Amino acid sequence: AAANIGVVGLAVMGSNLARNLASREGNTVAIFNRSRAKTDELVTAHPEAGFLPTFSYQEFADSLQKPRTAIIMVKAGAGTDAVIDELVKVFEPGDIIVDGGNAYFPDTIRREKTVRATGINFVGAGISGGEEGALTGPSIMPGGSDESWVTLGPILRSIAAIAEGEPCVTHVGHDGAGHFVKMVHNGIEYADMQLIAEAYDLIRRGTGKTPAEIAEIFAEWNRGELESYLIEITAEVLRQVDAATGAPLVDVILDQAGAKGTGAWTVQTALALGVPVSGIAEATFARSLSSHPEQRAVAAILPGPDEEFTVSDEAAFIEDVRLALYASKIVAYSQGFDEIRTGAAEYGWNIDLGAISKIWRGGCIIRAQFLNRIADAYAETPDLPVLMTAPYFAEAIGRAQSAWRRVVVAAAQAGIPAPAFSSSLSYYDGIRADRLPAALVQGQRDFFGAHTYKRIDKPGTFHTQWSGDRTEIEAEDTH
Ligand code: 6PG
Repeated sequence: AAANIGVVGLAVMGSNLARNLASREGNTVAIFNRSRAKTDELVTAHPEAGFLPTFSYQEFADSLQKPRTAIIMVKAGAGTDAVIDELVKVFEPGDIIVDGGNAYFPDTIRREKTVRATGINFVGAGISGGEEGALTGPSIMPGGSDESWVTLGPILRSIAAIAEGEPCVTHVGHDGAGHFVKMVHNGIEYADMQLIAEAYDLIRRGTGKTPAEIAEIFAEWNRGELESYLIEITAEVLRQVDAATGAPLVDVILDQAGAKGTGAWTVQTALALGVPVSGIAEATFARSLSSHPEQRAVAAILPGPDEEFTVSDEAAFIEDVRLALYASKIVAYSQGFDEIRTGAAEYGWNIDLGAISKIWRGGCIIRAQFLNRIADAYAETPDLPVLMTAPYFAEAIGRAQSAWRRVVVAAAQAGIPAPAFSSSLSYYDGIRADRLPAALVQGQRDFFGAHTYKRIDKPGTFHTQWSGDRTEIEAEDTH
């Protein structure tokens, strides 16, 4: 046995991760792929990696030092279960199987339980950063047992991105915790992307600037508090000219956004946990809305506002949009961390929220300077219930809020959809409200279903006898 780590699944993410592992001091990487051709190709293309190619699960297992450590990089779903079944046959108690795909965390919880029964460790690890990140340093979110972390920790630290001197990996929590956190990362990614898209749309339709001109605005924003990978690549995309037509590429790309499901999982999970991740939900639904051309064709007859959208002071409007984007982004992260905090409590994971924000500073898609401020907030108050109430964020939102309101009003008046901007603002106004009309909803529920209500002035549960003499009685609590 000559390899200290193995990779199963050599599509682009798997190959790049294997190359990353091989490039680090002290690692010898065994590789295995279902079809032999991929293995041969990778070995030929990268002799410098010194890969140990293997062509059966048994050979793969035999080539690994004990405890054996293997990272599975296959498309999430049934394929993952198939590979796990094969590895369990040839591995021994104490060995470690890592699933580095975008698995749905309940699947990871299930797999961890099944594999643990054999004495083998199973680790679901979220890996972010796309193809480039896998090769040069991703952000890694591993779950699984403490025992597995002893062996796995140094290996993952060696391949992770480095942010301010620290590797972007931490042991997130047991069983499905890593994939849960990766899921929420992707939900925040959806919100971040949608917010940027709304900012672009408002500026373009409000000022008539070209995509190339707007690219310069994003490049400028990237030098300030909005600095992030997604803002940076937005400028790149907007600058791109289509070779075939000479038009800006963004104008020839079909406006129907795809999704592989992680955003939807974030929202479904939040609904089940009762966490209002409205910005992430709107971002996910915005992709769904865009992807129904048949409905959009029919709905094109619906009228918009009568007046043209004009902006009198372009520079002031652009600055308003920047502030609206920043405030809405703070809301998206606040909501995402709320989901992680609530999920951790529900599933019994001890997740260090500050550590999560730190491992997102490098390697991953949502990497940004901003994450340092989140780390500061949790360093000060580890159990902060609403992230955006931390002094830094409360000040930033306070500074942005009138601009944010102006932008949402302008969008509504202009008939420009800004679902993530406006839902974030509604969340902000909802969560900070002294009284909410939820009281009326409780009254309605009690009226038609005797669902009962609580009172502000005394303990207990009450029901008004709506169909009788309308006097109030004490009642059983039915929620
Ligand atoms: C990452 C990305 C990665 C992938 C998303 C995209 O962190 O590296 O999030 O996981 O790009 O799954 O998802 P959609 O196809 O749903 O946009």
